[in-house]
Amino acid sequence: MNIVDLIIKKRDGLKLSNEEIKFFIEGTVNKSIPDYQISAMLMAIFLKGMDEFETACITQEMVKSGDVLDLSQISGIKVDKHSTGGIGDTTTLVLAPLVAACGLPVVKMSGRGLGFTGGTIDKMESIGLKIDIPMKTALDYVKKIGLVIMGQTANLAPADKILYALRDVTGTVESIPLIAASIMSKKIAAGSDAIVLDVKCGSGAFMQDFESAKALAKEMVAIGKNIGRKVIALITNMDEPLGLNIGNSLEVEEAVEILKGNVTGRLLDVSIELGANMLLLGKKADNIEQARQMLLDKIKNGEGYKKFLEFVAQQSDNFNGELVIHHAQHSFSLKAEKSGYIYSMTASQIGRASIETGAGRMTKEDKIDYTAGIIMKVRLSDYVNEGDEIAQIFSSTTEKCERAAKILSSAVNIKNEKPQTNKLIMDIIK
Ligand code: URA
Ligand code: CA
Repeated sequence: MNIVDLIIKKRDGLKLSNEEIKFFIEGTVNKSIPDYQISAMLMAIFLKGMDEFETACITQEMVKSGDVLDLSQISGIKVDKHSTGGIGDTTTLVLAPLVAACGLPVVKMSGRGLGFTGGTIDKMESIGLKIDIPMKTALDYVKKIGLVIMGQTANLAPADKILYALRDVTGTVESIPLIAASIMSKKIAAGSDAIVLDVKCGSGAFMQDFESAKALAKEMVAIGKNIGRKVIALITNMDEPLGLNIGNSLEVEEAVEILKGNVTGRLLDVSIELGANMLLLGKKADNIEQARQMLLDKIKNGEGYKKFLEFVAQQSDNFNGELVIHHAQHSFSLKAEKSGYIYSMTASQIGRASIETGAGRMTKEDKIDYTAGIIMKVRLSDYVNEGDEIAQIFSSTTEKCERAAKILSSAVNIKNEKPQTNKLIMDIIK
């Protein structure tokens, strides 16, 4: 087999066989194919696409390029959850303790934030939790309390790292089959039997329009079907931040308030919907209504928050039972410049404003200020009077607060008419 022939084949719109895809991925990882040929192939795939079978094959080969976690020591169906990334999106910290409290074990590998999306691992570190957990310890943790969330230690899907780095610099990131294979290969290598996906759609998401979000969701569900994993994808709206708090310890604070039953709203609603689908896939509930109720009951009876505290105690060295969350020293109150309805928000710009406070990274090496961030005081279609508070901004200096306020102010549009808003749960693909 010859990589040039395969590039030409894909360039001309023909389908690649399983053997040919295997050759491409193996050559990528063992470096027998140089970057320029890998990149040419990625561009050919970007332009000509891949069908369901090819996408399943490339996913499978990417899984095989590295370690595959063995979770067989934990009994029952292992269900994982993945979000394509949003703003104020801390569903994992809300749903993981609730789902675990319902008896479904959660073994979750999470990532760091980059650009305007946050990462669960950073949020955990903001309250002093350990995230570098050897696999053997992680399994012990799950056996003890049914829940562990950790950084990625194993060498999962190394082919994805190489392909993603090249896609990033060759204009080939936005390819549905390549995104689907990238996400699914990492989730499958992480050892789960079933996966609930949260595909974000809107001004603060990777997929800004419904049609592309749906295409990505369908592609990932199809991969699951083709390689024998149950996958359910929710398409959820990201035209505004999901929770009201944006920033690491601020988001933990909101998750805690939700688990204590003090706060409701969009973040709770999406967390319940994702968690309920996890319970269904894990066969802990007979139907979705029952599954939702089980999770809500765990908030009411305090068992969800209790599980969260067990999780905090398990993953920290000196937890005394009391969670203390600090806000940054300086704060700034952003006020409405005129009266009217909150007509639109550019959620990605709100994410940029939070980076400006110090809450996020632009490059992998950037240091995060865990105490920085934004608390939104308004939702889309709320009515505000001139001078009403739109958001509270927290940062280590007043200058950073002011810079963030400027960006945030331009991200929030106020008009005299009420906007048409999208549904929160836009679709479910299974
Ligand atoms: N997230 C991923 O993990 N991979 C992609 O290709 C895009 C988003
Ligand atoms: Ca996130």
